[in-house]
Amino acid sequence: MSSSCGSCSSQSASCSSGPSQSDMQAQIAQQENEIKVSLGKIAHKILVMSGKGGVGKSTVSTNLALGLANRGFKVGLMDVDLHGPDVCRMLNLNENLKDASMEQGALVPTMRVGDNLKVISLEYMMEDRDDPIIWRGPLKIQAIRQFIADMDWGELDYLIIDAPPGTGDEPLTIADTIKDAQALVVTTPQDVALADVRKSINFCNHVKMKIIGLVENMSGLVCPHCNNVVEVFKSGGGERTAKDFDINFMGRIPMDPQVVIGGDEGSPYLSSTNNSPAVTAFGALIDNVVKNTPAASVSLKVAEGGCACGGTCDCNS
Ligand SMILES: Nc1ncnc2c1ncn2[C@@H]1O[C@H](COP(=O)(O)OP(=O)(O)OP(=O)(O)O)[C@@H](O)[C@H]1O
Ligand SMILES: [Mg+2]
Ligand SMILES: [Zn+2]
Repeated sequence: MSSSCGSCSSQSASCSSGPSQSDMQAQIAQQENEIKVSLGKIAHKILVMSGKGGVGKSTVSTNLALGLANRGFKVGLMDVDLHGPDVCRMLNLNENLKDASMEQGALVPTMRVGDNLKVISLEYMMEDRDDPIIWRGPLKIQAIRQFIADMDWGELDYLIIDAPPGTGDEPLTIADTIKDAQALVVTTPQDVALADVRKSINFCNHVKMKIIGLVENMSGLVCPHCNNVVEVFKSGGGERTAKDFDINFMGRIPMDPQVVIGGDEGSPYLSSTNNSPAVTAFGALIDNVVKNTPAASVSLKVAEGGCACGGTCDCNS
């Protein structure tokens, strides 16, 4: 990350006053420009969020990113949850603590899963990650902005961003910095989670972030014996809430013990080849994301001579 005094004219001399206001403005303008350049090569940015913790944002982010990559899209997965880099754990990438290298003045992600998926975690990028001060409001916001500005993802069809729960600094900074980011809101079927989802929807409306849709996770339980889905909590609340707020309902993912095992072992669920209802449900979620992000993939279209929708349309191309 660049120095906070990067544009100061007295850079080499000892500076007691810090950057002046005009220096700061120049710095912000430069950063805005860097952000524009770095995001300009990414077709779709999706922020996975929820009002409530533990509803499956990291699971959905990871499997969505992996599923899109498996279909041939170029995908980036960015974990901005500073308090728990779950995405890396789920992808078994925690061995590699340096997940980007500096090349020609830009940070380039070095963690890869297959050919199409690049992964970074903001927490791993922080040199002072044990310093509690860095995690406070303005510094945290500035760190996330700088991180986005400095990162060169190359051309991507999708950037999936895993956020911590709630409507705090991280989603706010993403909404403010990535103006065309769309939110994928995750919920669970219980009433309390659905009340929280309304807060997320209101937050998105407030910051003018488009909502790509709502997904209901842990909706029913896949029986380990017969593979049928058993309704544990009442389901369908997510679909009703989506209807009430006039947003897309992207699907229902059942609770499957294999998802937890996959996440814990660092071999995410979608890499398995079994035909459990949860795999089918993730497939339907990915179909819906592709359907709602038209013209996503120039790279795929060119590479395969097929349709940019990833094969979910009827055009037979
Ligand atoms: N469909 C599912 N079936 C079974 N287990 C699941 C499912 N979705 C998520 N889980 C499990 O629930 C736990 C919480 O999921 P996850 O970490 O993805 O939630 P989160 O919303 O990202 O949490 P946080 O708010 O702490 O970031 C994990 O152990 C995960 O493996
Ligand atoms: Mg998480
Ligand atoms: Zn059964």
